[in-house]
Amino acid sequence: MKNLTRRDFLDRSAKLAAASILAPLAAHALELSPDKKIKVAIIGCGSVSTQYLPHLSKSPFVELVSACDIIPERAKRAAEKYNIPNHYPHIDALLAGANFDLMITTTDMQEHGRLNKMALLAGKHVWSEKPLANSYAEGKALLDLAKSKNLHLWGAPAVVNSPQFAFMARSIQEGKLGKVSAAHAHYGHLGPTWSAFFYEQGGGSLPDLGVYNLASLTGLLGPAKSVMAMTNIITPDRVVDNNGKIKVVAEDNAMVLMEHASGALSHVQCGFNYFDPYGHEGAGQEKPTISIWGTKGNMNLIGYDWAPFGVDMATLDNEKTARLVTDAEGYVWQQGATVISQSLATGIEPRINVEHALHVLEVIEAARRSQETGMRIALKSIFPYPMVS
Ligand SMILES: NC(=O)c1ccc[n+]([C@@H]2O[C@H](COP(=O)([O-])OP(=O)(O)OC[C@H]3O[C@@H](n4cnc5c(N)ncnc54)[C@H](O)[C@@H]3O)[C@@H](O)[C@H]2O)c1
Repeated sequence: MKNLTRRDFLDRSAKLAAASILAPLAAHALELSPDKKIKVAIIGCGSVSTQYLPHLSKSPFVELVSACDIIPERAKRAAEKYNIPNHYPHIDALLAGANFDLMITTTDMQEHGRLNKMALLAGKHVWSEKPLANSYAEGKALLDLAKSKNLHLWGAPAVVNSPQFAFMARSIQEGKLGKVSAAHAHYGHLGPTWSAFFYEQGGGSLPDLGVYNLASLTGLLGPAKSVMAMTNIITPDRVVDNNGKIKVVAEDNAMVLMEHASGALSHVQCGFNYFDPYGHEGAGQEKPTISIWGTKGNMNLIGYDWAPFGVDMATLDNEKTARLVTDAEGYVWQQGATVISQSLATGIEPRINVEHALHVLEVIEAARRSQETGMRIALKSIFPYPMVS
């Protein structure tokens, strides 16, 4: 993300507000004095925290207050490196310790729901890594709890924030593709090597990887109304840094079909068994990972949706494929928690939407149920759509 000064952000926020973006967070922002920063605590000081903390520490809206990890030396190391005054070995100590406004949850996936609930009960806003809970029902209960306490809850990923996503969403809304009929997205690599939880019950390639494409395609095409899927395990045994040799329990290979309320049919494939020479930054991935077809045009997102760097588009009016939106405009996948901290401080509603995250969680659960039953699974959740006006 570009180094945005507070003034830059407020100028931009004022423009967004003038463009009548809803600002229901304003009531909360008014409780803060103009220069007050959002006091932030991070729980889970493993791999992804090393991506979040540099970004958060540069934000003019964030004051990093506490770090917490059940492996205490990780919390201590993070605190030392990022000048965080407090560190704790347990959530109870974190919640009883130095005051803060927002908890960022970057622990093992299976712990998210439990920890997020504890933070909400303690009166904290929450940004959670994906998934924000272990099931749709648990996630919906968290949202109801947050609302009852006038708190905010958000879930990763932040793919809807990229300018490429915004361009694709606008192009669809403006009818540049005609009637959108079909879409495909894919993301995979050979799987994390450091922690067992990715392969245990409640882990899996769908909530870790497929979640990005599911967020992108539902964000672009609108809520899905039914899902069919096949999932399986290609590599039943793995060796991971924190647990040696393990049995893989969660799916490491998935194909998901969605029927969107608009009528479009889309497909997401993801897995932990994809040869991937493009590096963790994704910069070497120069081919499309998302393709969308309509009756008057097609669009391809170049690079991964979490690190895009272009959109190739051909339409009835311009049949020669053109490479567009080549500037990331400061978007990086690590920005989610920083962006919602800005939103809490300024009262401007972010594009990232918790109901969207819950919908994606319901799709993941439905995909698993479809695999178990061989059935097409109907969905009940929706989210505010279109996401970009
Ligand atoms: N690693 C990445 O590049 C990456 C990228 C995007 C999203 N994510 C997501 O971030 C989350 C964490 O992944 P990771 O790769 O950082 O895992 P990790 O294993 O490296 O880190 C998880 C940390 O959480 C701690 N932890 C577990 N339970 C805890 C508890 N109850 N209280 C406090 N601390 C606890 C662990 O000790 C560990 O240090 C996952 O949801 C993952 O899908 C990871």
